[in-house]
Amino acid sequence: EGLSVYNIGLIMERTLSPTVQGILKEAGQIADRMGYKIYAAGGVVRDILLGQESLDVDLVVEGNGILLAEELAKLYDARVRQHQNFGTAEILFSDDFKIDVATARVEFYAYPAALPQVESSTLHQDLYRRDFTINAMAVALNESSYGNLIDFFDGRKDLQEHTVRVLHNLSFIEDPTRILRAIRFEQRYGFKIEPQTLKFLNETVNRDVLSRVSNERIGEELKHIFLEPQAGIMLRRMNELAVWPFIFPGVNYSEIEPALMNLHRALQQIIDWGMKVPEPRWLVYLIAILHRSDAEVARAVCEQYAVDKRSTEKLLAALQGWNRSADVLRQKPQHLKVSQQAQILLQMPWESSPLLLAILNDEESQERFRQLLNIIRDSKPKTSGEYIRNLGYRPGPVYREVLDALWREKLDGNLDTEEEEQAFMRDYLARVTKRSE
Ligand code: CTP
Repeated sequence: EGLSVYNIGLIMERTLSPTVQGILKEAGQIADRMGYKIYAAGGVVRDILLGQESLDVDLVVEGNGILLAEELAKLYDARVRQHQNFGTAEILFSDDFKIDVATARVEFYAYPAALPQVESSTLHQDLYRRDFTINAMAVALNESSYGNLIDFFDGRKDLQEHTVRVLHNLSFIEDPTRILRAIRFEQRYGFKIEPQTLKFLNETVNRDVLSRVSNERIGEELKHIFLEPQAGIMLRRMNELAVWPFIFPGVNYSEIEPALMNLHRALQQIIDWGMKVPEPRWLVYLIAILHRSDAEVARAVCEQYAVDKRSTEKLLAALQGWNRSADVLRQKPQHLKVSQQAQILLQMPWESSPLLLAILNDEESQERFRQLLNIIRDSKPKTSGEYIRNLGYRPGPVYREVLDALWREKLDGNLDTEEEEQAFMRDYLARVTKRSE
C-alpha cells in the first residue's frame, strides 16, 4: 500500500446505485467523526471490480461497529439488529437492502503504540480469515481515502486472471463449506480453481472432512447454489470433484444429469410463459436431484437436510408421478380427455413443473404442457358452491362432487357461459339426488 494506491472511486460511481453510494459516503463521514477507520469488504468489492451491483454490503470498522451502525441507521430511519457478542450489526433498510457491519477484531498484541500500522494490521487479520483472494479485498470509505483499494493478497490480479485461489493451505480444512463456495464462484464467473487450491480442495475431500460439517451449513450453501443460473453446472462440478457422495449420499448423479442441465432453462421458460414462479428454488432442485431415487433414499436426504414434512410429501408425490405425467404430455396413452390429463398432472406439486419440462425433450410435448397449463388456468368455473346453496341443498359431500364434475366439464370444453354451467349443475344435482333416494 502507500506507494501504489489504486483508487476505485470512479468504478464505484459507475456500478453502485446513487442510494448505496450515498450510504457508503455517509458511513465514511460518520466514521471520520467517531475517529474510526471504515471499509467495505468482501463480495461487494469483488462485484464492483466486475462492474456488478451487490445486494449486500459488508462494512468492516476499526472501532465500535455497533455504535457506528446505530448512527448510520438513524440517518435512514433503518432498523439495526445487533449481535453484541460478535461486535456485529445488521442495518436493514426499508427496500430489502442490507448492510452488515463488523468490528475488525483487534487482538491485544496488535495494539502496542510502537507498531506503525496498527489499523491495517487489524483489517489485514479480518481479510486473512476469508475464503478466496477475490473475496478478500476492501475499499476505504473514510473521506480522505475514499475508494482506495486494499488488496493484500492480489485479489484483483486473480479476478483479472479468472482465478479462484485460497489465501492459505488450511482454508478448506478450517471451513470445508468453502469447497462448495469455490465451485460456486468458479462456475458463476466462468473462472478456474487455481491448481494449488484445487490440490488443497482434493486433499480435503479425500480426508473425509466434509462428513464432519453440519448438514445445516451444507444446506445453506446448497441453497445459495440453487439460486444461481449455473446451478446445474455447479452440481456437475460437485460430482467431478467427488464431492457429490457427501452431499447426496446414495443418489446416482449420472442418471439425473440431463434433467439437471436443463432445469434452470425450464424454470425460466415456465416463468416466461407467465405462470406462477415455482418456489422455493431448493425444492425445485431437490425434486430434480431425487426424482430417480428410491423413496428411502429420498427420505433420507430430506431428513439429512431437515426438509419440512409438507415439502417432503410434495417431493415424494413428484417422485411417484413424474413418469406418468411425462407420458401424458408425450401423448402416451393417446386420447385421454383434457380433464383426465389435468387430473394426472395436478397430482404433481407445482415445484416439480420445471423437472417435468426439463425431461420432455421434444418441442411438441413441451408445447402440450404449456397449453394444458393454460387450459387449467383458464378453466376455472364461474359458478361456485354458493349457487348450490341457493338452490336449497344442504352443504355436504355432494358440493365437492358437483364442483369437481363441473370443473371436468369445463376442462373438456363442454361448458362456456355461466348459464351453461348452472344448467349442468342443476342437471347433475337432479341426477345425484335421484340416485340417493
Ligand atoms: N466468507 C468466508 N468463508 C465462508 C463464507 C464467507 O471467508 N465460508 C467471507 C468471504 O470473504 C465473503 C464474505 O465472507 O466475501 C461474505 O460472505 P457471503 O455474503 O456469503 O458471500 P459474498 O462474497 O457476498 O457472495 P455472494 O455474491 O454469493 O453473496
